[in-house]
Amino acid sequence: MHNVAITGTGVFTPSQVITNDELVTAFNAYADLWNTENEAAIAAGEVEAKTHSSSDFILAASGIERRYVLDKEGVLDPFRMFPYLAPRSDDQPGYMAEIGVDAAGKALSAAGVEAADVDLVICAASNMERAYPAIAVEIQQLIGAGGFAFDMNVACSSATFGIQTAADMIRSGSIRRALVINPEICSAHLEWRDRDCHFIFGDVATATLLERDEDLKPGHFKVLSTRCATQFSNNIRNNNGYLRRTHDQMEDRRDMQFMQNGRKVFKEVLPLVSKHIASHMQEEGVKADDLRRLWLHQANKTMNDYIGKKVLGRSPEPHEQPNILQDYANTSSAGSIIAFSQHSNDLSPGDKGLICSFGAGYSVGSVIVDRA
Ligand code: COA
Repeated sequence: MHNVAITGTGVFTPSQVITNDELVTAFNAYADLWNTENEAAIAAGEVEAKTHSSSDFILAASGIERRYVLDKEGVLDPFRMFPYLAPRSDDQPGYMAEIGVDAAGKALSAAGVEAADVDLVICAASNMERAYPAIAVEIQQLIGAGGFAFDMNVACSSATFGIQTAADMIRSGSIRRALVINPEICSAHLEWRDRDCHFIFGDVATATLLERDEDLKPGHFKVLSTRCATQFSNNIRNNNGYLRRTHDQMEDRRDMQFMQNGRKVFKEVLPLVSKHIASHMQEEGVKADDLRRLWLHQANKTMNDYIGKKVLGRSPEPHEQPNILQDYANTSSAGSIIAFSQHSNDLSPGDKGLICSFGAGYSVGSVIVDRA
């Protein structure tokens, strides 16, 4: 058995930003248009009028202040409310591959590793741009990696499940280096016309390079252990799939985008995650006082504050549990990796930390690391 280390991470951040105020202005304009169009049905009591959204609500309920997106124009057009991302021809790189390559390049250069020395590329994300060929194989070819590649989807837990998958292969000796890449184009599966969730997501791509822990330059993070768990729930669901598409292509189906019962998710996922982390730490002999940092999934600030308090037995200081969701919103599987990538360089040798993601499935994944 070999030891495993994280030697580099990379983040691709889109250049376009939508603030809560811009988002709310667009949503309210859409709601007004819709209400005018449906005036008679509303007056007859057949449908309910759409109510306005509010920036104050969004900040208070989620902690989100803005989000990055690949296309702002389409999202903010009240007649459209969906990004303009024109379909790419088969001989062009796909969107996910393009942003994944950017993040992968940053992770490789942070580690000083050549793409040709990578044996495995996993593209782990909540939604895939197409069924096949795998996005991961396209990225493998674009960066010039060796070995093999495949896609996996565990929704918001895709990154940590990908890290465990890659780490297990490195441990067993079947590969030496792996890139786990999380291109999340959440703006294309969010229903921007739904007031309950229109503020939740943003776009980003992250990459994590894992290597056999042998002859490495100091500064990397040893992967002490990984742990994954799942429990079926319909409370976060997206019914988009090839059977539905074929039959209902022309229908405007709300369930073909992200759907959630936010309150239930809140109530059910919190105990699941807290218990998961506690038993992972106990199994590893890691105590709360041993942890210098928590890099949590970035969906909701109140949720993270609660989990941080449960894990540490006290309210974490901001530097102990850095949040990035105020700037990026929920970026699905990429959130905990953005936090790790942007808030880990200051840790000293011997400092331990925990990466944890959670979401649809339900799914929870945790990775305990130790600065070398
Ligand atoms: N603007 C203004 N008011 C809004 C609003 C908006 N955009 N969206 C909802 N509201 C209103 C509701 O109508 C409701 O009003 P009421 O009390 O008069 O009925 C009130 O605000 C509370 O709505 P609710 O949906 O219960 O809000 P919440 O406090 O539960 O927060 C979430 C909503 C989604 C932020 C929260 O439930 C959450 O974060 N859940 C977990 C999400 C998560 O982690 N998902 C995983 C995704 S990967």
